[in-house]
Amino acid sequence: MSGGERVNCGALRAADAGKEVELFGWVARRRDHGGLIFIDVRDRWGAVQVVFNPADATQAHAAASELRGEYVVRVTGSVRKRPAGSENPRMATGEVEVLAKGVEILSTSKTPPFPIEGEEQDVDESLRLKYRYLDLRRPHMQRFLEIRHRVNKVTHAYFDEQDFLEVETPILTKSTPEGARDFLVPSRLYPGKFFALPQSPQQLKQLLMVAGVGRYYQIAHCMRDEDLRADRAAEFTQLDMEMSFPTEETIFEVLEGLFGRLWKELAGVDLPRPWPRIDMKESLLRYGTDKPDLRFDLEIADLSQVLAQTEAQVFRKVLGERGVVRGMAVPGGKDLTRKELDELVVLAKGAGGQGLAWVPGPLDKFLSEKELAGIRAATKAGDGDVVLIAADRRRRAEKVMGIMRTEIARRRGLVRDQEWRFLWVYPMYLFDEDDEGNMTYGHHPFTRPMEGDIPIIDTRPYDVRAHSYDIVCNGYELGSGSLRIYRRDLQERVFEILGLSHETIQERFGHLLEAFEYGVPPHGGFAFGMDRVIMLLGGTDNIRDVIAFPKTQSTQDLLFEAPSDVDPDQLDELGLALKPKPTGGGRRQPASPGAP
Ligand code: AMO
Repeated sequence: MSGGERVNCGALRAADAGKEVELFGWVARRRDHGGLIFIDVRDRWGAVQVVFNPADATQAHAAASELRGEYVVRVTGSVRKRPAGSENPRMATGEVEVLAKGVEILSTSKTPPFPIEGEEQDVDESLRLKYRYLDLRRPHMQRFLEIRHRVNKVTHAYFDEQDFLEVETPILTKSTPEGARDFLVPSRLYPGKFFALPQSPQQLKQLLMVAGVGRYYQIAHCMRDEDLRADRAAEFTQLDMEMSFPTEETIFEVLEGLFGRLWKELAGVDLPRPWPRIDMKESLLRYGTDKPDLRFDLEIADLSQVLAQTEAQVFRKVLGERGVVRGMAVPGGKDLTRKELDELVVLAKGAGGQGLAWVPGPLDKFLSEKELAGIRAATKAGDGDVVLIAADRRRRAEKVMGIMRTEIARRRGLVRDQEWRFLWVYPMYLFDEDDEGNMTYGHHPFTRPMEGDIPIIDTRPYDVRAHSYDIVCNGYELGSGSLRIYRRDLQERVFEILGLSHETIQERFGHLLEAFEYGVPPHGGFAFGMDRVIMLLGGTDNIRDVIAFPKTQSTQDLLFEAPSDVDPDQLDELGLALKPKPTGGGRRQPASPGAP
């Protein structure tokens, strides 16, 4: 079978008519129209129609009747314009077809477990992950791979222009606290000892600043054994960067520049600069979250003052226990049915809240005219609006109102989904409360407090502002960063406030504290989730779509069937023995990746 010009399936256009070509690809579709056989041949670059005519090429036509979906073929033939009226505007190659002279089957295929064509197909995700190579063959999945490739390229080029040095850091290392559990790797040579996989290269990049690198970046794999959600993976990729002698402004400029470039090149959008900035406490108050979606206008107001003297028991009790009352007007919300309101109550309780009230509503009779007017004024509620109200401990009230804000926007179609609303949450705070009410760090323990707030660090720790900032876009936290502590004494003090003993500090962070004795440049940096950026640019809300070989939400690799058992010999070598499996308890093995 003599060849012609070797072309990609998606490349042919009307101007190519008359060319002799050679194509390689997968059989995407096959239609047998009595005499003529049509197939679409697909590769990464697109698909093209091939026609087999028994009158022109008897042998090729006979061979074509053997073809089935996903066979891999080599086709030779000549390009011609399709007859008028039979063009296909949905295909980039739709003006032409290849009249086959020969076809060779290079590989046959079983019927795939799900169709490769048609991205709207709702395929069970565990099936997709088990046959990931087929899932990735689907054209819309190839697009995600392509976006990722381009994001990486633009990022490398940008940081190179800005004089950053790419440095690779180890995967076998010691734990860096980023708030998740570590993945551990046992050491064979040092039985009973373990490496930890990096949750981020945080300490290493700080040490690179001590080393004089000045400007560092890396596209880094990070591993965190944490509860997964739609935008979290156990193994994910960060763009990690660090600079010496920066202010926040230096870092903001570098990053706004990078995101500007990415959005221009990948989405064709000019992002306005500078981005707005919002204090974290204000964000929690007005939007009920530290990652506000500004594509809709709903805002939350504090009603604690308005209700300070109230007779209404629900509010009195909460305010008496130093809780807060927050409210949000739902535009036109008087049309919300009792059923809808009840659903919102269920949502509020599901988020750990005590409940939800609304005005006008059953509570009106316990509220004075002045209080009702105050509520309407504070929430800017108009006549047709309903005000949703949560009274609770501050964090819970914020969470409930944040969820209401998103839910109302979604239900009432208030989201302007063509917009890209980037912002900085800045400043953030040095300390935070964990779910049990214990003190923990706001960002991580290396974050530098603002100089002016250091005097209150022992007396009012939660009010200490930090040189710490997040990038948020459309409700996603894309990244976090901070200026770092670079003095040993201050770093030790922060560790101590966080409740770490002297021994733990030495054992876990001795290397960093020691480095702080050898000439440390003031430094700071940032890391953002590459996967989340690609999700936004690709228009998916499932992080696994943008990772070539992801784990399930319960951290299993369904393709390789990992984690898996190992040989007893391997355990022996590592000096490890397995405890008997707990009966009944232990880690659940959810049947599908969607399960929690
Ligand atoms: P942080 O822990 O906030 O900061 O992480 C930075 C960004 O990484 C992304 N990210 C994740 N993406 C997917 N799956 C996950 N499990 C996951 N966890 C985090 C998010 C997040 O905003 N060393 C610091 C950065 C610094 O201070 O320079 C750090 O890792 O987009």
